[in-house]
Amino acid sequence: MRAVVLSTYGGPEGLSVSELPEPAAPDPDGVLVRTAAAAVNPVDLQTRAGLHAGHSAVHPPMVLGWDLAGTVTAVGGAVTGFRVGDRVVAMSAQMATGRGTYAEVVALPADIVAHAPASVPLTVAAGLPLAGLTARQALDRLALPEGSSVLVTGAVGSVGGLAVQLARRRGLTVVAQVRSARDEEQARALGAHRVVDGANLPVADLDGLLETAGLPGAIGAVRDGGRAVSIVPTRAPVPERGVRVAVSHVEQDGPGLAELAALVDAGELRLRTAREFAFDDASEAHRRLAAGGVRGKLLLLPDVP
Ligand SMILES: NC(=O)c1ccc[n+]([C@@H]2O[C@H](COP(=O)([O-])OP(=O)(O)OC[C@H]3O[C@@H](n4cnc5c(N)ncnc54)[C@H](OP(=O)(O)O)[C@@H]3O)[C@@H](O)[C@H]2O)c1
Repeated sequence: MRAVVLSTYGGPEGLSVSELPEPAAPDPDGVLVRTAAAAVNPVDLQTRAGLHAGHSAVHPPMVLGWDLAGTVTAVGGAVTGFRVGDRVVAMSAQMATGRGTYAEVVALPADIVAHAPASVPLTVAAGLPLAGLTARQALDRLALPEGSSVLVTGAVGSVGGLAVQLARRRGLTVVAQVRSARDEEQARALGAHRVVDGANLPVADLDGLLETAGLPGAIGAVRDGGRAVSIVPTRAPVPERGVRVAVSHVEQDGPGLAELAALVDAGELRLRTAREFAFDDASEAHRRLAAGGVRGKLLLLPDVP
């Protein structure tokens, strides 16, 4: 099978398509998935650059990728929830397990897989798992009661864009922070009640903060004794004025992903795709994400789109 292999830590030029042995059969509690698309995420760029080498269980040569949408081609003997032919999505913690999704066929434990939303193409669904689970788990960690107010930074990014929608659905008043006025319309379309840029943050006013942009000073928007959750560990806010700060690290979660997929089908969670790339153009996709300004997911497809 074809897979995008990282030969050595460094720049995007270290990514190239290789022929690898296809997984022969799933584990008893696993499935094989034929990939329709794998989304590109910041963690892939960080892993490629070697930024996670110190705590990663796998090292080059290796296949990158956490996000997957595809079709089940084989099912382990102990698996009851999936059949051959099912359309599925999954988030695979590549750094911990080595199960990268930039490959034509991926073997995964069934408990991290969910049925894909039926209302969108698999290529679009590939943008859901990592960003969706991150947003959901960070909001769970924030645990703000209905009626509270929250600032979401990086609100039109992948995680931010889903967090805005999920926060609104949870009955929160959502203040969306965006980089510039250009993004205001998109943030409002995602459900933000109010949109601000980094220079006009509320002051000690909101109940909570969900930090996805590593924005200095964002904690200043939270009222004394409020709560903040960051998903950017290297730039987590320093606690002040009794504001409790936590860092959320996304975890694999098939059932949680199934709930997110159901929200997509209910029209309550909108997925945004920016551009599709062929596996052969994985380096270009990494360069594009690194350049910034992407709105919606960049996707890698085994076949030329
Ligand atoms: N802890 C976890 O488990 C976890 C999970 C997923 C992601 N993450 C991390 O969370 C971050 C966001 O991930 P993502 O997938 O959402 O990335 P993304 O799609 O690239 O979105 C990041 C967004 O933040 C915006 N941004 C950056 N600096 C900003 C600033 N100063 N003001 C306003 N907006 C700003 C970016 O805008 P521009 O495009 O204009 O720069 C972009 O819209 C990354 O650092 C990623 O590594 C952590």
